[in-house]
Amino acid sequence: MKDKKTYKPCDLVIYGALGDLSRRKLLISLYRLENAGLIESATRIVGIDRREGGSPEFIEIARKSLDEFLNDKVDESVWERFSARLSYLPIDLTQPEQYLKLNGIIDQSSRIMVNYFAVAPFLFKSICQGLAQSGVLTPEARMVMEKPIGHDLKSSKEINDEVAKVFAEDQVYRIDHYLGKETVLNLLALRFANSIFTTNWNHNTIDHIQVTVAEEIGIEGRWEYFDKTGQLRDMLQNHLLQILTFIAMEPPVNLEAESIHNEKIKVLKALRPITVYNVDEKTVRGQYTAGYVNRNEVPGYLEEEGANKKSVTETFVAIRVDIDNWRWAGVPFYLRTGKRMHHKRTEIVVYFKQLPHNIFKDSYLRLPPNKLIIHLQPNEGVEIEILNKVPGIDENLRIQKTRLDLSFFETFKKSRIFGGYEKLVLEAMRGNPTLFLSREEIEQAWIWIDSIQNAWAKSSEKPKSYQAGSWGPIASDLLLDRDGRAWEG
Ligand code: BG6
Repeated sequence: MKDKKTYKPCDLVIYGALGDLSRRKLLISLYRLENAGLIESATRIVGIDRREGGSPEFIEIARKSLDEFLNDKVDESVWERFSARLSYLPIDLTQPEQYLKLNGIIDQSSRIMVNYFAVAPFLFKSICQGLAQSGVLTPEARMVMEKPIGHDLKSSKEINDEVAKVFAEDQVYRIDHYLGKETVLNLLALRFANSIFTTNWNHNTIDHIQVTVAEEIGIEGRWEYFDKTGQLRDMLQNHLLQILTFIAMEPPVNLEAESIHNEKIKVLKALRPITVYNVDEKTVRGQYTAGYVNRNEVPGYLEEEGANKKSVTETFVAIRVDIDNWRWAGVPFYLRTGKRMHHKRTEIVVYFKQLPHNIFKDSYLRLPPNKLIIHLQPNEGVEIEILNKVPGIDENLRIQKTRLDLSFFETFKKSRIFGGYEKLVLEAMRGNPTLFLSREEIEQAWIWIDSIQNAWAKSSEKPKSYQAGSWGPIASDLLLDRDGRAWEG
């Protein structure tokens, strides 16, 4: 990791500065970093968008965004420091010659240019061309982009190729906001800083692993985007596979980006393909119907605004994943993710194996397995389920499941848990690529996902209905039931 003293200030240029991503996430995260004193004092933030106007208008929009999305009162002294960094430049992003305007603004003698592409990928090409023509880029400049980086391997390659014409791979920072989440990063610490886990993290001790990313929200008015995308591409291709690689990878030699990327890629390459031959047995697709979430009545997917009533896009996926390598031979990973589920819950549950011999068998035919439960969000924390003797002096030895509970809020009261974006924006400004995705990782993930998507396209099975507010279709329970297992309740 780099020493803080070596970080250079930046010119953080946000393309699409007036758009949703910028207003809801980036500006809020940057303000929070300001509040925490984590932005270099000479760093500047330049907003770029097509709308005519100047810095005062942009500053006003930024303030409105904070008032609306910060979920807290804006601290006026922080705002004063933060707003002093903001400026605005109107550029029609599709017009490469307009990028010449950047020349008078960007100063790379004392700052590093960090280009944040907060726009839809169809604009990446023209932004790259504009930047190349402007002559403003130096080899130190960085570019930040995030999903969707394509909707399959081919389109992902096209985007990466366009970007590669202008930025070398080590200048490109691809975001998956899950990798900025405190609890996802904690997986590295849990796995590689604790011998009780390091020595037991394999097929000898682990029976199977479940990953659940359940959302209460529906598609949030994003019919156009979501219907073309579906839950497999929207959540599983990126966030769940990233969590999976963190759980399954071999110990990297150190925390450098290359070491971690290499280990993650090995996991992605070892994923057993799901094809037309096994797709019905390994995957379940669902689509929500009307129901109640948090006691509020919500419409079904096909009744959402703008819906095509015949859509067969999945809003829920459950998959049995097998990893064909030495460590995980015979250990299934069950992944599930869905919209409009019972409540928001992102967690990993590691089920340990039964003991080879049960000395309590006269009273307990089967002892429940130990479990490690990692709550990624909300209520971040880690629990271990173990068996204890119930205190008492009667002759029957009674055993009960109990949980050792480490709640992050209780344990680390003083440290605030930052959101994923704050961490990632900070790392991009600092030039630490460890938590970003390499091109190879993304393309390898697409290879595996494309195979499922193609198999679904050929399958006669449609997504199974599930009621909004439930835990998904019954078929998802059957997926585990067939293997003699059940989802963590
Ligand atoms: C985004 C997806 O990447 O992640 C959204 O496009 C989803 O559909 C969101 O709702 C979930 O993120 P989080 O941080 O709320 O779990």
